[in-house]
Amino acid sequence: MTYSEKVLEHFRNPRNVGEIIDADGVGTVGNPICGDLLTLYIKVRDGKISDIKFKTFGCGAAIATSSMITELAKNKTLDEALKITRNDVANALEGLPPIKMHCSNLAADGLKEAIKDYYSKRGVKLDEKKIIVLDDCPSCGFELKPFRDKSIKFCPRCGVKVTKEV
Ligand code: FES
Repeated sequence: MTYSEKVLEHFRNPRNVGEIIDADGVGTVGNPICGDLLTLYIKVRDGKISDIKFKTFGCGAAIATSSMITELAKNKTLDEALKITRNDVANALEGLPPIKMHCSNLAADGLKEAIKDYYSKRGVKLDEKKIIVLDDCPSCGFELKPFRDKSIKFCPRCGVKVTKEV
């Protein structure tokens, strides 16, 4: 079995390893094929993944794919990040041996779970479009979290629309 240089490089120097204590979303997935485990943490700012970290108890390919998915997902919108597939991860790593393709599922599923968790903390089930109130006003930066329960539509300070469909 031969690994690409890129896989070996991400295995030796994995990016974004660790934990985000105050993460906005956390996803833990196990790989049913081998029993390996991944936890992925995301921080979301203005609808984009502003920070992302992972902890993986698994094989070298699982570590490389976890590392790569953090690079692919960082600074993407949640919608864009949800579209990252296991093939995208494998391609970005310049391929994986066929017997190791399942390892890239761990990374792709972990990211999806973390995004699902982010939405469910806001009362949104993924795949169900809903109107949510933004964290901060896009115009004046006023913090809107305290007003979320009141279902406001416009910023109490500057009057700009502060909802979006997710
Ligand atoms: Fe378990 Fe690779 S062998 S994720």
